[in-house]
Amino acid sequence: MWENGPDLAAYTALGHRIVLGSIAIFAVLSFVLRYPYNRWRNATINRRHNCLPPPRLKSADKLLGLDTVSRLRRAVAERRFLPLLLDLFQETGAWTVEVNLAGNANIWTAEPDVIKTILATKSKDWHVGTSRKEAMQPIVGQNIVITEGKDWHNTRAAMRPAFGKRQFGDLSELEGHVDRLMEHLPTDGRTVVDLKPLFYMLSMDVSTEFLFGVSTNNLSAAYDAEGAAFADALDLIQSSMVKGQWLGKLGALLFPNKKLRDAVALMNRRFDKFIDMAAKFDSQESKGSSDEESEQSYNILHELTRTWSGNPNRIRSEALILLIGGRDTTASALSNMFYYLARDPEVWQKIRQECLAVAAERPTFDELRGLKYLHNCVRESLRLVNPTLDVSRTAAVDTILPRGGGADGQSPMFVRKGTNFNLWIYGMQHRKDLWGPDADEFCPKRWDDYKISSWAYSPFGGGARLCIGQQLALTETMYATFRLARKFSSIQSTDSRPWTENLSIATTSVYGNLVRLIP
Ligand code: HEM
Repeated sequence: MWENGPDLAAYTALGHRIVLGSIAIFAVLSFVLRYPYNRWRNATINRRHNCLPPPRLKSADKLLGLDTVSRLRRAVAERRFLPLLLDLFQETGAWTVEVNLAGNANIWTAEPDVIKTILATKSKDWHVGTSRKEAMQPIVGQNIVITEGKDWHNTRAAMRPAFGKRQFGDLSELEGHVDRLMEHLPTDGRTVVDLKPLFYMLSMDVSTEFLFGVSTNNLSAAYDAEGAAFADALDLIQSSMVKGQWLGKLGALLFPNKKLRDAVALMNRRFDKFIDMAAKFDSQESKGSSDEESEQSYNILHELTRTWSGNPNRIRSEALILLIGGRDTTASALSNMFYYLARDPEVWQKIRQECLAVAAERPTFDELRGLKYLHNCVRESLRLVNPTLDVSRTAAVDTILPRGGGADGQSPMFVRKGTNFNLWIYGMQHRKDLWGPDADEFCPKRWDDYKISSWAYSPFGGGARLCIGQQLALTETMYATFRLARKFSSIQSTDSRPWTENLSIATTSVYGNLVRLIP
């Protein structure tokens, strides 16, 4: 019956060919036309908003930017990455520059207005930098520093109460740890001690107690092999993340590394104990227990356990990221400040006089925060060395920045979705046009009349993602310094080498803090 009817198979095949052919033509056309279309579109937006492209790094750009990559890698190996970057900016004559890194365009900026727009005014147009996500996610999984939107918001909201000022009203927890730090400090006026590893131990002990309710007690005599293994595992995870950031997508290949996997497993086992304790705390609380013990054991894990219940991987990842944030940054802040204090007897005397003027041996939170000169020293050292170098963002949509365009960086700038930005806070905090000719000097006095609200000083970032641990870090740094200043009349560096960068999760001097302490 169908013999003379339409040949359906032939029609179907023809239809398929037409559809496939159209798709292919469309794909080729959109590929070919994309470049001129984008050029036309960018030019139109640039004209309409008076935007100009940023200048390109002058001394770079041969071989698709491979020359810049190798120059930067060499500088890292020779520990002169920070000064080299400053020189490159200065050579270009602008504070927002485009850098071609192995074919990928990146923009580096040390311009307060640009940084403010990205972190605060137009933060919705920006995501956390892709390189950070690629480095962290395969190693530690999702967490507050790489998530976006509702996911990020839920974690931030869960953490916020634990970081409020209320949590620092009582400094007794901190006192115990600083007491143990003091026991490690020689008082004979002759013995040389390296303060840097002690500051790392202090920070680890304080952070674990603050975050998980149980301290690693690295500074205590009871510190054991388990504690040492925990600290080693944390070091390995951190250094892998830093390497991953350099390697970009290749960073994911680090994860199969057995040592790294074992380190993550060890951390997870330890966190699971803390999480179990937090779960017990929750069930006690839901039974209406007003037991004093459960009040004392309150910590951030309880909130995370509620927010991410049924997702232990997420809770572990958040805990790990907090520990990394808590330990290294604060230890680095202390170590960098003591680099300067041990070389400036006049500043040490001023700090000491201010601390001795407080009646109590152990200050209250308000007394501590009232120490203006000490606070200025902390600010000044965080200006000279901001511990966290990586503040990166990727444009989530096409957007416009108020500055950064043109040879002098003063014109608005159109940014295409997907463009990567490094917010170069170190460079900004060393700019002589913003801080004066003595920008590279340690000079706490400059803070007497400096307007702290300015974005030119942003060691803790800014906007919605402003560092959540800022109060904890400042309190710990000031408290430890207060106790040392009261005990020692003088602190003398025994090391004539200059501050030399050691770039890791947080930046310190590779030579540490070799000092003699005079009671
Ligand atoms: C001197 C010490 C510290 C410095 C200089 C510092 C610096 C920073 C900076 C610059 C950011 C913003 C990163 C960005 O916008 O991409 C940040 C975020 C963060 N910091 Fe800190 N930090 C310090 C101490 C701490 C401490 C003690 C903790 C926790 C115990 C901590 C936990 C965090 C967390 C969780 C974030 C991510 C916040 C978010 O994305 O919402 N930090 N920190």
